[in-house]
Amino acid sequence: MKNRVMDELKKVFYPGKTHSVVKEGIIDDVEVDGGKVIVKIKTKEKNQAVIDMLKKSIPLALKRIDGVEDVELQIEKIVEEKEKVANIRWVIATTSGKGGVGKSTVSVNTALALAKFGYRVGLLDADIYGPNIPTMMGIEGVPVMLDPNHKDKILPTEKYGIKVLSIGNLVPKDAAIIWRGALIHQAIKQFLEDVSWGNLDFLMVDLPPGTGDAQLTLAQETKVAGGIIVITPQNVAMSDAAKAYDFFEKLKIPTLGVVENMSYFVCPHCGARTDIFDHGGARKFAEDKGLTFLGEIPIDVEVREGGDKGKPIVIANPTSPVAQAFEDVARNIVEKVKALS
Ligand SMILES: Nc1ncnc2c1ncn2[C@@H]1O[C@H](COP(=O)(O)OP(=O)(O)OP(=O)(O)O)[C@@H](O)[C@H]1O
Ligand SMILES: [Mg+2]
Repeated sequence: MKNRVMDELKKVFYPGKTHSVVKEGIIDDVEVDGGKVIVKIKTKEKNQAVIDMLKKSIPLALKRIDGVEDVELQIEKIVEEKEKVANIRWVIATTSGKGGVGKSTVSVNTALALAKFGYRVGLLDADIYGPNIPTMMGIEGVPVMLDPNHKDKILPTEKYGIKVLSIGNLVPKDAAIIWRGALIHQAIKQFLEDVSWGNLDFLMVDLPPGTGDAQLTLAQETKVAGGIIVITPQNVAMSDAAKAYDFFEKLKIPTLGVVENMSYFVCPHCGARTDIFDHGGARKFAEDKGLTFLGEIPIDVEVREGGDKGKPIVIANPTSPVAQAFEDVARNIVEKVKALS
């Protein structure tokens, strides 16, 4: 009887196609129990009209067989999993209470240091208000490409061994964009979902300064492994840092630690050290909050030049003390993130 049923099913056309339901591959099993036939169907079909047609055409055909009195269809819809184009182990977000403290500089150079250690690294510039990573990475004006294998996905630009994508590559430079909350949310959500990052160990995300919509979205849409707070050492910067820390806490993002940037200045001529913005404030802040102090980066003209020229110091002068300081920070990040996970 089962064979009879299968033969009959081979004559039932799949709606809208020129072959049978059997050839379409949706018949999972057939059970016969006396006069009752149960047809088990597994389908990815999303069009309900097609399903409705099958519900009519299959029983109609099978009831033509002698001895078949009742036909039951058991339809299991297979939901296709959204194709994953990114497999990221640790998302790290850098932020600061206020602008201009060197958050992007730290993001770029630590990302490059991580790549030097052999990790697969992505760098996402989520600073919608002032995306400057394209300039710092020397990819300004590079048009965004679509992934040839996933046509609706954006391919990040590869530079100095890491994958980079910035909102700066998506909007014209100096465009006065006044992004509203919903738009920011949409843009960052798309960044996270529609980019072919491939397999990454680290995705460094450079957030806009402050505690606004971008940070919120990021925290809602991904599992951020940890946040890094960049601070300059003067006392007044600490209250801003505290805000950044509270924000991470509120979003349940573990703070990996604190980086003190523009920590001190070593005169290139005489070698004397000057604490231009004071020194050690970030370390004290970290101690007060029970956070890890990830390291201190001196003020160095080469850092600024590297940023302006699109060749970050970790690449331009890898043996310099500043580049080494960035590598130390990156090493501490690895240690901390591994300890947390
Ligand atoms: N350690 C440093 N030594 C010298 N210059 C530095 C250092 N860190 C950052 N700078 C310079 O300071 C400026 C601001 O740095 P950066 O753009 O990284 O800050 P930011 O916190 O990302 O700023 P924004 O809030 O605008 O995003 C840049 O010109 C950069 O090259
Ligand atoms: Mg920045």
